Amino acid sequence: MPPLVVPLLLGVTLLGVCNSQPICNFNDLLQNLNLSDAPEMRMRPVRDWMTPSVVLIDMSLYTILSLDMRLQTITTFIWFTMAWQNEFVSWNPDEFCGIKRISVPVELFWKPDLYIYEMIEDEDKSPVIPYYLLYSNGTVVNSKPLRIVSTCNLDMFKFPFDIQTCSLSFGPYLHSVKDLIMLPKSNSSTVSALSRTVFAGKGDWTLSDISVLNTTYDSDGEKYSQVIYKITIKRTPIIYIINLIIPACFLLFLDIASMFIQMGTGERLGFKITVVLGFSVLLLILNDLLPNSDSTPVLGIFCTVCLAVMVASIIGSIAISYMLTESATQPDVPLWIKIWVLNHLARVLRFKKRSDKEELVTVVAVNKADSSDGKKVEKNLELCEKRKISQREARGSLEAKLLKRLLAEILKIHYELNLSKNEDDAKSEWYMAALVVDRLVLILYLVTVVIIFAIVIIVWAK
Ligand SMILES: *[C@@H]1O[C@H](CO)[C@@H](O)[C@H](O)[C@H]1NC(C)=O
Repeated sequence: MPPLVVPLLLGVTLLGVCNSQPICNFNDLLQNLNLSDAPEMRMRPVRDWMTPSVVLIDMSLYTILSLDMRLQTITTFIWFTMAWQNEFVSWNPDEFCGIKRISVPVELFWKPDLYIYEMIEDEDKSPVIPYYLLYSNGTVVNSKPLRIVSTCNLDMFKFPFDIQTCSLSFGPYLHSVKDLIMLPKSNSSTVSALSRTVFAGKGDWTLSDISVLNTTYDSDGEKYSQVIYKITIKRTPIIYIINLIIPACFLLFLDIASMFIQMGTGERLGFKITVVLGFSVLLLILNDLLPNSDSTPVLGIFCTVCLAVMVASIIGSIAISYMLTESATQPDVPLWIKIWVLNHLARVLRFKKRSDKEELVTVVAVNKADSSDGKKVEKNLELCEKRKISQREARGSLEAKLLKRLLAEILKIHYELNLSKNEDDAKSEWYMAALVVDRLVLILYLVTVVIIFAIVIIVWAK
C-alpha cells in the first residue's frame, strides 16, 4: 500500500460515519407531519366527531394591576395555559433524533374558543405569543400571558379593611359540553401556592387565596363547561388609615376640644367652622374613592355622623351665644327655660346649682331687708325732722331743706342699685341656662362619638 492511501481511507470512513448520523431539523418533522396544507388541522382535531375535546386549563395570578372601586372592575395579569389533544398529529421521537416537542405557528391549528365570562374589555393589550408547543403524543399546549379587565362585585362595607372575591370564569363561547369539556389542571391548593410564589403585589392588595371550581353553565338548554377561579384578595389599609381615618379622628378631637373654649365667644364658633371645613375636605377625598352605588361603607357613615355631630355642636354654640346676648336686652329668663333648663335638665346633668341658688336667695333676702331698713330710717328721719321743726322752726329751715334733698338722692341711688342687682341676678340665670345647654351639647356629643366609634370598630373587627 502506498503511504498516502491509509489516511485517505480513514478520512472516507470517518465521513461515512458522519453521514450515517442524520442531521435533524424541524422542517423534516413538519414536512413529515404534513401540517401546512392539511385542512383537518383547522377543524376540531378528533377522528370521531362524537368524542368531545378535553381542554385542561391552568393559571397563576401574576399581579393585580388595578381595582377600580367606582367602575367595579379589576384588571389582572395572569399566566395562562391550556392544553388539548390533537388526534391527527403524533410522531415517534426516536425517528427524529429524539425531538419530543416543537413550537409551531398558531395559524396552523384549531384552537378552543376560550372566553372569559367576566371580561369587559378586549384582550388586545395582552402580549402575543405566536407559537404553540406540540408534543410527540399529539398534545398541543397554548401558554400565554393574559391581561384581563373584568367586572367584580365589590363589597365596600368594610372599606378600607375589606376583602374582595373576584371570579374569572373560563369556558368555550360556542362549543357545548358535547364538543368541548374544560377541566382545571391543578386543584385549588396548588394554584394558590403557585400564585403566591409568583404574585407581585403593588402594595395595594395581598393575595389571600384562589379556589378552583369546575361547573357547567346552562344556556338555551345547552350546557357549557366552565372553570371558575375565585380570587380572594385583601386590601392593605395603611394608606387609608394615614390619609383618611387618622386625620378625621384628629379633626373630631379638635372639635371636641373646642367645646372647652370660653362659651358664647365668636372665637369658638370660628374655630368650629374651620374644623368643619377641614373635615369636608376629607369627605371630598372619600367621595372620590367610593363607588356611588351598592352598600355604603361604614367609613362613610362614620364621617357623615361626625359631620352631623359637628354641625349640631355649632348650632348649640350659636344657641348659647344667643342666650348670652338675650340676657342683655331681656333681663327676665322665660318661664319654660326656668322650668326645663334650670330645673329638670340641670338636675339630670347633676349641676351643682343649689349653692348658686342659695346665694341668690340670700342676696335677694339681704336686699329686701336693706330696703325695709331704708324705709324705717326714712320714717325715723321724717319724725325727727318734724320734731326738729317744732322745736327750732326759724333757725333750721335751710339745713332741713338741704338734708331732705340729700336724703332723696341717697334713696334714689339705693333704688337704682337694687334694680341693677336684680338685673345681674337675671343675667346669672341666663348664664346658668347657657352653662346647662353647653354641658348638654358636650355630653350628647361625646356619647354619639363613643357609640359611632364602637360601631365602626366592631364592624371592622368582624
Ligand atoms: C392538589 O394537588 C396536589 C398535586 O397535584 C396534591 O399533592 C394535593 O394533595 C392536592 N390537594 C387536594 C386538596 O386535593
